[in-house]
Amino acid sequence: MRIRGRDKVPALLEMAAPILVDAEQDMVLPAGWLTGYDRLCLEVGCGRGSFICQMADHAPNTLFVAFEKFLEIIARAAALATAQGLQNARFIRTDAAKAEMVLPLHAFHVIYLNFSDPWPRRRNDIKRLTHQRYLQIYKKLLTADGWLEFKTDNATFFEWSVGSFQKAGWSVQAIDTNVSNTAPPGEEMSAKYAQTEYERRFRALGIPIRHLRAVPATLSGTEPPTH
Ligand SMILES: C[S@@+](CC[C@H](N)C(=O)[O-])C[C@H]1O[C@@H](n2cnc3c(N)ncnc32)[C@H](O)[C@@H]1O
Repeated sequence: MRIRGRDKVPALLEMAAPILVDAEQDMVLPAGWLTGYDRLCLEVGCGRGSFICQMADHAPNTLFVAFEKFLEIIARAAALATAQGLQNARFIRTDAAKAEMVLPLHAFHVIYLNFSDPWPRRRNDIKRLTHQRYLQIYKKLLTADGWLEFKTDNATFFEWSVGSFQKAGWSVQAIDTNVSNTAPPGEEMSAKYAQTEYERRFRALGIPIRHLRAVPATLSGTEPPTH
């Protein structure tokens, strides 16, 4: 993602300070920062925050936490949530590899991966956010009935990711290789149909969007979640 307008970042950080933690500086979250909500959900690699803000606006009783590794980018996401007056969004600047050190374990109902970097070169597969090393971390973050949703435009990355989930023992319960631009009634603000910033660009180019839902190994054999 291109980083523009670096000079605006200090003002954005100040504006968003109550809902933004830079875990590269301090891994301890403020007391009570993640409490008081019915459910916790996590987006890894939130970019400028369009998706997480839509989701938070739609579900005020759920707390949406977003990870992003670049401070300049997450500052924009957190400032967007602040400008929209969202109370139920939190932003953490960190690499997903450090998630276990920052977040409570077995606390998140859903983890979202939206248009994660595909890292097309084979030698970089370890950096893909659907690599088994990340899947082990996500499993520790999810509640016993939790699941993960993954969306991408990249067919090769999608197929590789399906294999990665399966090798790690996850159950891939729903695959759609061409997500409709029009959601079924009532599903407009589901993770599958709420559109991200990158998604809008790919849809404008006519590129099919792929989506799957996956459940960690311990829950294989359970019914697919319906919400
Ligand atoms: C291609 S962008 C997609 C942004 C957004 N999810 C969307 O769909 O519009 C991927 C984002 O993930 C972030 N990212 C990549 N690897 C990450 C990691 N290991 N931990 C946290 N964020 C990461 C990147 O900095 C970038 O902002």
